[in-house]
Amino acid sequence: MSIVITGNPGVGKHTVAEKIAHRLGLPIIDINKIAKESGLFEENKDVNDIDTEKLKKILVGKISDNFLIVGHLAPYVLDKSQVKIVIVLRRSPYDLITVYKNRKYSDKKIKDNTGSEILGIIAHDAINRFEEKTVQIDMTGKTIEENEENVISIISTNKRNENVDWLDLVTKNNDLQKFFSD
Ligand SMILES: Nc1ncnc2c1ncn2[C@@H]1O[C@H](COP(=O)(O)OP(=O)(O)O)[C@@H](O)[C@H]1O
Ligand SMILES: [Mg+2]
Repeated sequence: MSIVITGNPGVGKHTVAEKIAHRLGLPIIDINKIAKESGLFEENKDVNDIDTEKLKKILVGKISDNFLIVGHLAPYVLDKSQVKIVIVLRRSPYDLITVYKNRKYSDKKIKDNTGSEILGIIAHDAINRFEEKTVQIDMTGKTIEENEENVISIISTNKRNENVDWLDLVTKNNDLQKFFSD
């Protein structure tokens, strides 16, 4: 069964996945790449417009073995029986703004994605789908090496879920307007 790394864009999925794949000797399956190769999203179209039912079927044919599966769509295209553990990477929305600005995301896309992280939508959907196989980990303020060690230790012990609540932080900072107004 496969190990899954998911979470919002910019949380550090690919950075960590490259290292983990190397250390554990697992081939990476990049969900977005497969979606692209299968012609499921066109240029300029948002990745969220993708046909997840089709993608789910395509993935069934590809993941009969042990892989490291990476992608923010994981909770919508995989089933519990296909996975050993699902690691949801979390990252402060304040740090994500910087990542998104570097990626030249539009203001709307920045708000959509930071809003999704603050509300914990992918974590929520992962827990719904994969139940006790889901583990969250907060990447904020740690080095890439520390994050890598955390992920490795989660995979080997199957434990150490972190409770992540950005809503509390954002509310305390009086920043709800900043993230959620038009
Ligand atoms: N632990 C970390 N500390 C600081 N920056 C990081 C860390 N991990 C990743 N990054 C940076 O954050 C950005 C997003 O990482 P990336 O792996 O592309 O995320 P994702 O695949 O989830 O979109 C990259 O610029 C990467 O270099
Ligand atoms: Mg990525």
